[in-house]
Amino acid sequence: MFVLSGEELTLPFAETRALIETYSNAETTATPNSRVVISSLRDTALIERIAERGAYCRFGGLVAGRSIKIESIIKNLDLPKSFSQQKFAVRSNSVDRSICGELGQALKSKTGALVDLENPEWLFHIEQLGPEYVVAYSRRGYKEFSWKARRPRARRFFLPSAIYPKLARVLVNLSRVKEGEIFLDPFCGTASLLIESSLMGMESIGIDLKRWIARGGLLNLKEFRLEFDSIMRADSSSKPLPLNRVDAISTDVPYGRASSTLGKTTGQILNGFLDSIADVLPQQRHCVVMHPDSISAEGNSKFDKVEEHFLYVHRSLTRAITVLRRK
Ligand SMILES: C[S@@+](CC[C@H](N)C(=O)[O-])C[C@H]1O[C@@H](n2cnc3c(N)ncnc32)[C@H](O)[C@@H]1O
Repeated sequence: MFVLSGEELTLPFAETRALIETYSNAETTATPNSRVVISSLRDTALIERIAERGAYCRFGGLVAGRSIKIESIIKNLDLPKSFSQQKFAVRSNSVDRSICGELGQALKSKTGALVDLENPEWLFHIEQLGPEYVVAYSRRGYKEFSWKARRPRARRFFLPSAIYPKLARVLVNLSRVKEGEIFLDPFCGTASLLIESSLMGMESIGIDLKRWIARGGLLNLKEFRLEFDSIMRADSSSKPLPLNRVDAISTDVPYGRASSTLGKTTGQILNGFLDSIADVLPQQRHCVVMHPDSISAEGNSKFDKVEEHFLYVHRSLTRAITVLRRK
C-alpha cells in the first residue's frame, strides 16, 4: 500500500503507478480514496525504493491485513517475526484517532511492542477504502525531501523558466527510468530534471540550444556533485541527434518565444524532436512531454499515447503532461 500526498488530482496516482511499472509487473488498483494506492507488489525493498523515489509518495508498506471489520484485521494480522518489543506508531489519513488507538493497543498486547509517536522504528498505516480497512507497515517511516535546497532560486544558475524539483521529479518518474539507465532531457535549461534523475541514480544527459544555458545547467549539476553527467549544446528539433541510444526521455518544451527557439514554434520544435528521438529510443520505452495544453503532443506514428495530465498555472496557461510510448 502506498499513501500519497493530496495536492494534485491525477499526478500522484500516475507517478506511483509508473514507478510500480518501472520495477515490476505487479497490478496496481485505483481505490476510492485518491490518496491510497494498492498494488500486488510484495517485495519490501522495491516498495521502499518506490516510496523513496515518489515525489508524491509519503509512505509505502506491506499490507498486513484488510477487512471490513477492524477486529478481524487485528485477529489475523500478518506481521514479520522481527516485529516484537520494537517502537512503533500508527497513522492514518482517513480514519479516526480512536481506530488508530485500537490498532495500537492490539499490536502492543499481541507482540509486546511499544508505542513511540516521536521516533518509531516501525510505522503502521490504516486507511479506509470504501467499506474496507487496510493496514500496512514499513520499517522506513516517512521520508524527508530537501526540496528547498534544490528550488530554482537556490541553485547557482537561475532562469525564470526553471521548474520546481517536485514537478521535475514527477516528470522523471513518469518516464519509467531505472537506476543505471540513460535518461535524456532534450530541452534541459537549468537542469531541473537532470538533477532529480542523477540523484535517483540514472546516467543523465541534457541538451540545450544555447551554449551559455548548457554551461549554466552543468554548473547546477556540479553543485550536487553530479560530475559524471553531461549537457551538450545541440538543436533537439533536428536530425541527427548526437546520441546512439537513450532509455527514457522527459522534458519541458520551450514555449515558443522566438528569442530562445531560433524562431520555431513550440509545435514545430515538438514534432521535429519526436521525429529525431524516435531513432534512439528503444521500443516500449517512454517519452514524457510537458507542454501548454493548447498544443497537441499526440506524437507521430512511431508513438502511442499512454496518458495525459493537466496542471493549471494561471488564466492563460494550463500545462499538459503527455506520456508517450515508442511503438
Ligand atoms: C522551458 S525551458 C526548460 C526549462 C527547464 N525544464 C528548467 O527547469 O530549467 C526550454 C529550454 O529549451 C531550450 N531550447 C529551445 N529550443 C531548443 C532546441 N531546438 N534544442 C534544444 N534546446 C532548445 C531553451 O534554450 C530553454 O533553455
